[in-house]
Amino acid sequence: MRNLIIDSNRLWQSLMTMSKIGATEKGGVRRLTLTDLDRQSRDLFAEWASACGCTMHVDAMGNMFVHRAGTNEALPPVITGSHLDSQPTGGKFDGAYGVLAGLEVLRTLNENKIETEAALEVVMWTNEEGCRFAPACMGSATFCGAFALEYSHGRSDQEGKTVLEELKRIGYLGEGCGDRPVGAYFEAHIEQGPILEAEGKTIGVVTGAQSQRWYEITLTGMEAHAGPTPMERRKDALISAAKLVQEVNQIGLDFQPGGCATVGVLDVFPASRNVIPGRAFLTVDLRHPSDAKLAKMDEILRNTAESIAKDAALTLDLDQIWACDATNFEKSCINAVRKGAKAAGFSHRDIISGAGHDAMYVARIAPAAMIFVPCEGGISHNEIENATQDDLAAGCQVLLNAMLEKAGTH
Ligand code: HGY
Ligand code: MN
Ligand code: MN
Repeated sequence: MRNLIIDSNRLWQSLMTMSKIGATEKGGVRRLTLTDLDRQSRDLFAEWASACGCTMHVDAMGNMFVHRAGTNEALPPVITGSHLDSQPTGGKFDGAYGVLAGLEVLRTLNENKIETEAALEVVMWTNEEGCRFAPACMGSATFCGAFALEYSHGRSDQEGKTVLEELKRIGYLGEGCGDRPVGAYFEAHIEQGPILEAEGKTIGVVTGAQSQRWYEITLTGMEAHAGPTPMERRKDALISAAKLVQEVNQIGLDFQPGGCATVGVLDVFPASRNVIPGRAFLTVDLRHPSDAKLAKMDEILRNTAESIAKDAALTLDLDQIWACDATNFEKSCINAVRKGAKAAGFSHRDIISGAGHDAMYVARIAPAAMIFVPCEGGISHNEIENATQDDLAAGCQVLLNAMLEKAGTH
């Protein structure tokens, strides 16, 4: 089969156009899931997909499946995809790259009039980031049966709006979830870490993803007057929360190499300058490449939180809201990525994903692997996130090669 080359400029243009939706002053995007901006990005993706002559299915989680028919529709489709929702201070490429690289694969096949045996699909997964509605990867986790549809539909944001209400409001509440065959899955993504850039490698052949757990912790003491309340009589929730934040960081440091521990949210109640905080809410994100090590980190977190609360006579509510074990991607898909990189002549190395991705869940129901490309300084979940057009095109080329390897062509 002749050498099919994706169109680097067209991919770059699509990324730049998409990044205008929710664009921030610092050059990033703020496109929280199921907001009007998310709807706009979905509408644009749907418009581009229909221009490719593809059909579109939207499921009950708002996952969007763009279908390019194969010559043998009895075969399960080879799919790719990622997400269009972003962090509050997100970048242009996290998620959008994987969706638009998939679209570029379809566009390249169309213009070269190439037919594949198995159909190809590009999926836009709902709520990968998990920042507005926790937990993360909600669309793909529900699709593969890890979350019940009712659970996901019932998750609410800080204003009490539910996923179901917001899916309806933006017009992306479809039917059914998970009842679609998947022959193989590939996801292209920026690495969001420093390794590929540091080693001067163009492609990351992603062999797996690390284990992660999310917690919501509330420490409750007692509000009191900041003036007449003697120091020794206080039940200050923020002081204990501050100690716990330090201890969470220490857990990450104590589980090197690989351990990560982050407190991303810290809310204080009633947040008045002359009231001793009666309540503190914090989130904890723990990660490690090894499930066993993460279980140890979990145990230390729980014991530490309990002893901090006990010492200060506070009450502790600790809720683990999400756990996703370490993922090992599937050998033949990993080989298809490696072969695709070699065929295109790109430098590459195997790598484990530090970030979570929808591929972690799809890998539970189908052979899956990922393709990484470098990002500047390894920075992501930050508006300065950047990647080069050449690297993004390289990852897309490898995606094309890997998908054709699995789908078969005429
Ligand atoms: O949290 C993660 O790793 C992903 O970016 N949602
Ligand atoms: Mn992502
Ligand atoms: Mn992300």
